[in-house]
Amino acid sequence: EWTMDHVVDMQIEQIRDEVQGRNVLCALSGGVDSSVVAVLLHKAIGDQLTCIFVDHGLLRKQEADDVMTMFEDGFNMNVIKVDAQDRFLSKLAGVSDPEQKRKIIGNEFIEVFDEQADQLTNIDYLAQGTLYTDIIESGTETAQTIKSHHNVGGLPEQMNLDLIEPLKALFKDEVRRLGEQLGIPEHIVWRQPFPGPGLGIRVLGDITEDKLEIVRESDAILREEIKWNDLERDVWQYFTVLPGIQSVGVQGDERSYNHTVAIRAVTSVDGMTSDWARLPWDVLEKISNRITNEVNQVNRVVYDITSKPPSTIEWE
Ligand code: XMP
Repeated sequence: EWTMDHVVDMQIEQIRDEVQGRNVLCALSGGVDSSVVAVLLHKAIGDQLTCIFVDHGLLRKQEADDVMTMFEDGFNMNVIKVDAQDRFLSKLAGVSDPEQKRKIIGNEFIEVFDEQADQLTNIDYLAQGTLYTDIIESGTETAQTIKSHHNVGGLPEQMNLDLIEPLKALFKDEVRRLGEQLGIPEHIVWRQPFPGPGLGIRVLGDITEDKLEIVRESDAILREEIKWNDLERDVWQYFTVLPGIQSVGVQGDERSYNHTVAIRAVTSVDGMTSDWARLPWDVLEKISNRITNEVNQVNRVVYDITSKPPSTIEWE
């Protein structure tokens, strides 16, 4: 009989068999996938696991602190936090092409990770939270590459490590069930997906601290309202985007010429296709009011009503 219980036991046994007394390194992002991988490995091999968490400056509000509190204090895991904001932002300065941004972020991530790994001795394995859909969307030899997901390829070859990818046959909903089975708190297991390049692909065009701040603050408001209205489970992903256009508005008694923030909220089963979420109008109204009132330099909020295809979930 095939149950999640069974899957966990099998995975743990497989990991122990393979790893034996050796050590494993894991890139922890705090997202559902890497969290499940980390906790699964921690269950299997305990202190033989070391996690590296890179703060690339493209994270959401409060995210870095939340991740560290959760895994270091909550789960008692070895987590090394790297503050690499300046490195990433200076490499990204003036770059506006989406795939170029992804490449830079991916490469810089590997470099930062590599430097940290070099300082650790006796590491033999690298664990990654690659999913079945990551493999499909990154393309095979015959399929076209849609977007270069930076968690696929490169790393282990360069570092001479063997790869452990316990989730690579699973879809997202299966990973969530696995996470629940592992006793990971509900708010982590049911967290919405967040892309590796983070807010870097939600500021369209070139990235500045100023623009990141607008996306970060508006995103925090959106997430708060979705949570307060108990809509987290109804929506697959919800976030704000800064298209980089300015338009005329009237704020106070004055004419303003400020930024537009777009809200993206979608329903989906696996991220491969999606539909725009029919969020209640009063919730959208509240979010819009709060964003224009609380976030500097914003005078207009729009709602994205396209499905995937023809759009993608992210705007870049
Ligand atoms: P799209 O935008 O292609 O996204 O419809 C499908 C899912 O993948 C996420 N996504 C990414 N995840 N690195 C990631 O790790 C990326 O470069 C990336 N681009 C998109 C997106 O958030 C959605 O869940």
